[in-house]
Amino acid sequence: MILASGRTAVFAFCTAIFLALNAFAQQSAAPAVQWPEPDPETLPAGALKDTVLYGQRLIAETYALVGPEVAEKRMRYSGNNLSCQSCHLKAGTQRFALPLIGVYGAFPTYMGREDEVRTLEERINGCFERSMNGRALPVGGKEMKALMAYIQFLSTGIPVGTSLPGRGTPALALLNRAADPRRGAAVYKENCAVCHQANGRGQRKGTAGDAQGYMFPPLWGPDTFNDGAGMHRLISSAAFIHANMPFGVAGDKPKLSNEEAWDVAAYINSQPRPKRANLDRDYPNRSRKPVDAPFPPFVDNFPLEQHRLGPYRPILDSQK
Ligand code: HEC
Ligand code: HEC
Repeated sequence: MILASGRTAVFAFCTAIFLALNAFAQQSAAPAVQWPEPDPETLPAGALKDTVLYGQRLIAETYALVGPEVAEKRMRYSGNNLSCQSCHLKAGTQRFALPLIGVYGAFPTYMGREDEVRTLEERINGCFERSMNGRALPVGGKEMKALMAYIQFLSTGIPVGTSLPGRGTPALALLNRAADPRRGAAVYKENCAVCHQANGRGQRKGTAGDAQGYMFPPLWGPDTFNDGAGMHRLISSAAFIHANMPFGVAGDKPKLSNEEAWDVAAYINSQPRPKRANLDRDYPNRSRKPVDAPFPPFVDNFPLEQHRLGPYRPILDSQK
């Protein structure tokens, strides 16, 4: 009996050490920074809270406040009925889904598109003019202040000049071939059409003209992002889709294979959409132009088709 209980004691001791070591290992394997879940409702009542909440609504219900169907004509800043949240998922709080958490301290920053240092207000207006196919908000106006306050609130505690892992979208391995819109059409039919519809026009919550936006946003056609938007570049688009679509997948547990994501992005970005004027003026320093910018001019001699669909490795290698 004594022997047995002695053995039990030794066993229990070893188990305790094993569990402790295991817990330690798990702790050090966990991400260094917890993904924050900021909630504006926790702010003390007052003007700042109201402003932050208005900013949150502007992200989540853009169409109802500054969309093309709002009653007051001068408030029509977006040219389409998307919301910022159509791409910056969960009002900009979702990891790997172009989150706005931590973005406040990342600006001002150099941007190749204009070849200059840009402020956060200018970055927001970039999305108004391209992703929302609209016009810039006045800097210093009520709406821009609210967006700035909300993004600052989301970035509380994240040091200036740092980014959280989970910003943007996870990088997606490049294909060795050109992405194939025809294969992408089949991927679309199978995985996307149920929500975004076979014709890509999405599904409205109500009826056209009611400023209530979409249950499932349009991916092409007249009421979506224009051809100068980040989502119209194949690398950005494939990475977003891989990490976030079909809607509901977790960014680090994708459902689509890499190939499916590239092909379906190529299919979507081969469809008609609003055009932005003067795209040739983007990236005035041509050597800073991303390889997947789908419009000329380029410094290299690769065909436009290859910039649109890849393969990108040869273009990247030629830049070294
Ligand atoms: C159609 C998709 C889409 C919509 C809608 C959209 N954005 Fe974006 N946004 C993007 C993409 C893609 C990027 C990253 C682009 C790049 O590669 O630089 C981005 C980047 C940003 C950034 C910089 C983020 C960072 O990490 O540096 C801000 C801020 C931003 N958007 C604000 C907004 C606001 C505000 C709205 C609504 C008025 C909006 N966006 C609507 C796609 C979208
Ligand atoms: C279950 C419904 C559902 C499915 C299936 C789905 N999506 Fe989405 N998708 C959404 C919703 C909802 C949003 C916008 C999120 C929001 O408003 O909160 C969205 C947003 C998007 C966006 C950014 C917004 C825009 O208008 O461009 C793209 C791109 C996109 N989806 C592509 C795809 C692709 C490609 C597939 C198939 C692989 C797919 N989605 C499957 C529901 C879905």
